[in-house]
Amino acid sequence: MAIPPVLLILSVLLFFLLRYITQKKRPPPATKHLPPGSMGWPYIGETFQLYSNNPNNFFAEKQRKYGAVFKTHILGCPCVMVSSPEAARFVLVTKANLFKPTFPASKERMLGPQAIFFQGGDYHARLRRLVLRAFMPEAIRRKIAGVEEIAVRVLSSCDGRFINTFQEMKTYALNVALLSIFGKEEQSCIEELKQCYYILEKGYNSMPMNLPGTLFHKAMKARKQLGFLVAKIISSRRDSEAKTDQFDAGDLLASFMESKEALSDDQIADNIIGVIFAARDTTASVLTWILKYLAENPSILQAVTEEQEEIRRSKGKIEGDEEGGLNWADTKRMPVTCRVIQETMRVASILSFTFREAVEDVEYEGYLIPKGWKVLPLFRNIHHSPENFPDPAKFDPSRFEKSPKPNTYMPFGNGTHACPGNELAKLEILVFLHHLTTKYKWSISGSKSGIQFGPFALPLDGLPIKIDSLAEKN
Ligand code: HEM
Ligand SMILES: *[C@@H]1O[C@H](CO)[C@@H](O)[C@H](O)[C@H]1NC(C)=O
Repeated sequence: MAIPPVLLILSVLLFFLLRYITQKKRPPPATKHLPPGSMGWPYIGETFQLYSNNPNNFFAEKQRKYGAVFKTHILGCPCVMVSSPEAARFVLVTKANLFKPTFPASKERMLGPQAIFFQGGDYHARLRRLVLRAFMPEAIRRKIAGVEEIAVRVLSSCDGRFINTFQEMKTYALNVALLSIFGKEEQSCIEELKQCYYILEKGYNSMPMNLPGTLFHKAMKARKQLGFLVAKIISSRRDSEAKTDQFDAGDLLASFMESKEALSDDQIADNIIGVIFAARDTTASVLTWILKYLAENPSILQAVTEEQEEIRRSKGKIEGDEEGGLNWADTKRMPVTCRVIQETMRVASILSFTFREAVEDVEYEGYLIPKGWKVLPLFRNIHHSPENFPDPAKFDPSRFEKSPKPNTYMPFGNGTHACPGNELAKLEILVFLHHLTTKYKWSISGSKSGIQFGPFALPLDGLPIKIDSLAEKN
C-alpha cells in the first residue's frame, strides 16, 4: 500500500517536532547551539553600530531584541554578551576558571605583561594577596590624614576658578594612588614618574603603531623610563632597609618587596603602573558624576551637606582645636553620603562591561560558548534593569537603604578579579566630599549634557564647573 506523500511529509514533520519537544526537556541537549544574535559584516562585525553612538544604546537594544544572553561580533572578535545576574555570576564567580581575562596585546605591552589583570592561577592569587594586604581597611586607615591633605590642596587650587571637573579629579586620584603605592617617597622622584605617566596615558588609546614620532612610540619609551624610575626607588629602599634594619612603610611597594613573597623588579613595575591605571580614571569618573548629580539634586546635596557638617561640628567639640582630621570611625558615620556614591556608581556604571575569554567550549543554559570567544558581562544592563532597580534611570540614593540582591549590583565586579582597591576608592571619595560640601559651592557651567566614553563613561567635556569657597562669600 502506497503512503500518500502528504502523510509522509506530516510524519517526518511530526518526528522532528517530537524530537524537538523531548530534546528541550532533556537537560544537556545533544546539539548545543550558539546564543541568538547577529554577527554583522565579516571581520568588522557590528563594531560601527557599537561605536557610532552611545554603546549603552547598542547593548540595551540587543538585550531587548535577543534576551539576556546574545552573540555579536566586535573589533574582530566573536563574542557573547551576558546581562543577567545569574549569567554574570556564572562567568565571574562560579565558573571563573573557564573564563580568563583578555586584553588587546598592545594594551598588555603598555601596562606591563606581568600586571595582575592579565593573570590567572597561582601567580594571580599571589599578586592579589600582596595587593589586598596594602589596600585592606587596616592598611588604608593609616593613610587618611595623607588623603585628606591631598583633598584640601586640590580643592583650594580650584577655588574661584572655572574648572574641568574630570581633570581636577584625575589629579586628586593620581596623588592618592601614588600615596598608597609609595607612601611618603621623595617628591622629585614622584614628580618625574608623573611626567612619564602622562605621556604613557596619551598613547594608551592611540593606534598601536610603534613608529618614531607616533604617540604609541612615545608611550612605549615613557613606559621603559617608568620601569627605570620604579627600579631606582626599589634600590634606594633596599639600601635604607639595610641601614636601618627595619622597614614598614605600609604601602603597596613595601607589600611587593616584602621578603617571603617578593616579586622581581619587572613584576613590581608592571603591577605598580597597572594599579595607577586601574585607580585613577575610574575614581575620577565616579567623582565627576557625583558632582554632577549633587548639583542637579539640591535636596540630596542638602542632606549630604548636613551629614558632613554634623561630623565637622562633632570633631570640633571632641578635639577642641579648630579642625580635627577625619578618622576611620568618622568615615563609617556617613550613610547618606555612602548611598549617593552607590547610586552614582549604579546610574553612571562607568565600567559598562568587562571582558573575558572562554578557555574551552562552555555550555550555559543550553547555549554553546565556543572556546576562544570573548564573553562580556554587561554591568550597566544589570544595573539598569527595572527588575533589579525600579525606575532605573532615576537618581535616587534612598533605594540603597535596602541592600541590593547578590550579583545585581557590581560596580567593583565580583569573583577572583573583583576590585581590590574598592575600600580605598570609597575612602578617598568620602574624604573629598566631606571637604567639598562643608566648604565649597559649585555650579555647572554651560547647558550641554551628554555622555562621552574614554573609555569610562563621563559627563560631556569632563563637566565644566565654577567652584567657590563658602567662606569667601560670607
Ligand atoms: C570607583 C573607582 C573604581 C571602580 C569603579 C573600579 C572598578 C573595578 C572593576 C569593575 C574591576 C574588575 C574588572 C574585571 O573583573 O574585569 C576592577 C579591578 C581592579 N581594580 Fe578597581 N575600581 C576602582 C578603583 C580602584 C582603585 C582606587 C584601585 C587601586 C588602588 C583599583 C585597583 C584595581 C585592580 C588592581 C584591579 C584588578 C584586579 C584583578 O585583576 O585581580 N581600582 N576595578
Ligand atoms: C558575588 O557573588 C557571590 C556568589 O554568587 C554573591 O554571594 C555575592 O553577593 C556577589 N557579590 C556582589 C557584589 O554581588
